[in-house]
Amino acid sequence: MATSGRFLSVEGLSKTFQSENQTKAVLEGIDLELAFRDCLAVVGPSGCGKTTLLLAIAGLLTPTLGTVRFKGNPLAAPERRIALVLQHYGLFPWKTVAANITLGARLQRIDVSEKRLASVKKELDIEGLDHLYPAQLSGGQRQRVALARALLLNPLLLLLDEPFAAIDTVTRERLQNNLLAVFAQRRFSFIIVTHNIEEAVFLGQRIVVLDNGTHGIKTVMENPGMGSVHYRNDPVFFERTRQLRGILEGLE
Ligand SMILES: Nc1ncnc2c1ncn2[C@@H]1O[C@H](COP(=O)(O)OP(=O)(O)OP(=O)(O)O)[C@@H](O)[C@H]1O
Ligand SMILES: [Mg+2]
Repeated sequence: MATSGRFLSVEGLSKTFQSENQTKAVLEGIDLELAFRDCLAVVGPSGCGKTTLLLAIAGLLTPTLGTVRFKGNPLAAPERRIALVLQHYGLFPWKTVAANITLGARLQRIDVSEKRLASVKKELDIEGLDHLYPAQLSGGQRQRVALARALLLNPLLLLLDEPFAAIDTVTRERLQNNLLAVFAQRRFSFIIVTHNIEEAVFLGQRIVVLDNGTHGIKTVMENPGMGSVHYRNDPVFFERTRQLRGILEGLE
């Protein structure tokens, strides 16, 4: 298994959208590398192309130029070991929690043992919700069900598009801690797209700032020291959030 930066590489990725007789450049010349068991946060103003980048990495959107390589191979279609949690959870309202959690694995014919299922539910604190429907859950519970569904696919790479948006601060921090605890076992890498500065600094070993002016990467901030729930109270954490806020305020 790749353990170097070759795990995921985004090389010269550009995406333009064609609508009517207009061409709109969204991403231009994006280069990124992610090692196995590494985690990356992506931030940038609304509309700068964060979701577009994630979809390209998921193999769901073809770049106009450039290549995404997963374990050395160019991605031309969705890859089984890359799981995506969409901006709005993607749960089926007419299916119970239990059915929603196992749906992805069933579709991919992955056998999920009762033990594994129980352990993921425990890790994410969603035990006892099996017979409820998504509408009967809180936003935080919905989010954890979506995360459980993605984790049961045993992804090597987990892509999260603003997973904790629209959730109150306390629940949000609990969910961030949950994610960090699951990640601590280092079975996967993840990329999290977020608007939230604290979240990016709490969850990204590196933080990529996208620039809606150039459509490229404004900067990549290294963030050694993250990885523990105590990081939130570390002076380094405050300094990095201050720095990141400064960078974001300098964008359009
Ligand atoms: N399929 C599409 N066709 C045309 N334009 C698109 C398409 N998908 C995205 N866009 C445009 O590309 C730009 C980037 O969209 P994207 O969803 O990647 O932004 P984002 O950074 O995720 O924004 P937000 O923070 O609001 O979620 C937007 O201007 C959007 O309108
Ligand atoms: Mg988006």
